[in-house]
Amino acid sequence: MLPAGARAAPGVTPGEAGMRPPSVRRAGPADSAGIARVHVRSWQAGYRGLLTGDELAGDSEAERDATWSGLMTDGGGPVVLVAENDAKIVGFCAVATPSRDPDAAHDVAEVAALYVDPSAWGTGVGRALMEVALEPLRAGPWLAVTLWVMSGNERAHGFYGRLGFTADGARRSDRAGSEVRLRASLEPSKGRGRTA
Ligand SMILES: CC(C)(COP(=O)(O)OP(=O)(O)OC[C@H]1O[C@@H](n2cnc3c(N)ncnc32)[C@H](O)[C@@H]1OP(=O)(O)O)[C@@H](O)C(=O)NCCC(=O)NCCS
Repeated sequence: MLPAGARAAPGVTPGEAGMRPPSVRRAGPADSAGIARVHVRSWQAGYRGLLTGDELAGDSEAERDATWSGLMTDGGGPVVLVAENDAKIVGFCAVATPSRDPDAAHDVAEVAALYVDPSAWGTGVGRALMEVALEPLRAGPWLAVTLWVMSGNERAHGFYGRLGFTADGARRSDRAGSEVRLRASLEPSKGRGRTA
């Protein structure tokens, strides 16, 4: 889907003066430790106040590493991209085509994960990842992309809203809380702001 190797993210405006845009590239199994590190740090900072202390403390880099390594080794898993600053992974996203949701139409893709290291929040890394991940999907056959976000995750809701995502009405819940599904069009003429 995307060529391996570093690629400058298009149209990224860094959030802090003097910061360079991250480079975004397709990830492979060798990136699993860096992805796991960002996953745990971002999850613990991003979900503070939304999950219990035990749930936050139970997140393990070793388990995340094994999970991401397996997903990227097995064929048919999501496409994983990493964003790097100075060759260090500062964010990643995973895109499933088609969406894993049982009710999804055949032409709907899914952002299965998006995590940015807290040290890089607000610097354009999330936007860069989303732009590079979604741009190839616009060529078809994908007409829309969805994702699940926790109800109280205001930072993520604000971010996705900025990128043109809106709630599609679907909800789900488990022991960790409730999630709402957001959706954005991938059709060039619809719902496309500066990015999404
Ligand atoms: C949500 C998250 C991925 C955003 O990534 P980020 O790198 O901080 O976002 P960016 O700096 O790329 O911001 C992109 C745009 O969204 C805007 N934005 C970011 N957070 C926002 C917020 N809380 N409210 C409103 N707008 C916001 C930025 O101002 C920026 O706008 P601009 O480019 O038009 O100036 C990041 O905060 C994160 O990893 N959070 C923890 C994990 C998480 O919740 N992931 C989502 C799970 S569904």
